[in-house]
Amino acid sequence: MASAETPSSPIVEGRLAQEFAAPSHVETVKGLMTEFAERHGSAGRRVVLVTSGGTKVPLESRTVRFLDNFSSGRRGATSAEYFLELGYAVVFLHRHRSLYPYTRRYAGVNLLDSLRLEDGTGTSCQVVADEQVLPNIGPVLKRYQEVKKGGLLLPVEFSTLSEYLHLLKAAAQALSTIGSKAMFYLAAAVSDFYIPPSEMPEHKIQSSNGPLQISMKMVPKMLRPLVKDWAPKAFVISFKLETNPSILLERARQALATYRHHAVIANVLDTRRGYVVVVTQDDQVELALTEEEMRQEVEIEERIVQNLFAAHTHFMTQQD
Ligand code: PMT
Repeated sequence: MASAETPSSPIVEGRLAQEFAAPSHVETVKGLMTEFAERHGSAGRRVVLVTSGGTKVPLESRTVRFLDNFSSGRRGATSAEYFLELGYAVVFLHRHRSLYPYTRRYAGVNLLDSLRLEDGTGTSCQVVADEQVLPNIGPVLKRYQEVKKGGLLLPVEFSTLSEYLHLLKAAAQALSTIGSKAMFYLAAAVSDFYIPPSEMPEHKIQSSNGPLQISMKMVPKMLRPLVKDWAPKAFVISFKLETNPSILLERARQALATYRHHAVIANVLDTRRGYVVVVTQDDQVELALTEEEMRQEVEIEERIVQNLFAAHTHFMTQQD
């Protein structure tokens, strides 16, 4: 039986429709995602939806201020690359301007510091990438172009919580067309709180009115309708982020028991680059990098994706 905290799918769907404005392009994007999933699915390829980055929740209708969930997008962008290496096609649902596959490696670089002029002057000169500023740029660019040419990566952007929720639903319905070949890898940091439109001030909140007190409602969890109704045959992975390690595994197990999906990747904010636990119904596997591996810039996302690839393979054979 659903508890008050975990409302059933029709209630979640009703609230989504009434309290979160759908972006105007949602149907167009859904069409693109459906075509992408069907094209790759019929070529025998698996398709993964990677969500990445944090959602933004406005505090005013004509928004000046908003509440942001922390996420650089590195987990999602890095994981997307490893999924592509293992033959998946990737729908990358990410926060506008968060880290992006391949370009993430050069995120801190000033473009003009990374280029050199050679031969000639003015408009006819050659521009050359500086390998010192852009290490490994040749192979990275080559791989990026192969992925692009193969139409293997479909980027979709969100900024606000409302956009994220509607685009997630659209993506789930689009990928459901390929059944168990679809994976959902929900690494985005999604707000648990929002202000419904009926309670939101229209104009900028005035500081002359004194200290600000806000009351926010709970966001319905999308995992329930996703697993039960939108993509019931897909392989679904969620993430659990905590800052207190002592409650992490208990919270991850709770999420699995509530939503009955396939795995939770549990991580603690401070140690997330080197340590995660993959929690499933009857197991838990620790993935950890040694200090030496961290120095050599081994990425834990490679281990996470390898682990899930094997689990997804097993899942698909069970479904057939
Ligand atoms: O981007 P980085 O800087 O590399 O950091 C990566 C990360 C720490 C953000 C990532 O590894 C991570 O843990 N992401 C999930 C963080 C989170 O917001 O957890 P949560 O407890 O709010 O949500 C748990 C799960 O429920 C998530 O998979 C989320 O997609 C899903 N959810 C959340 C809210 C909501 N309304 N519906 C949902 O389905």
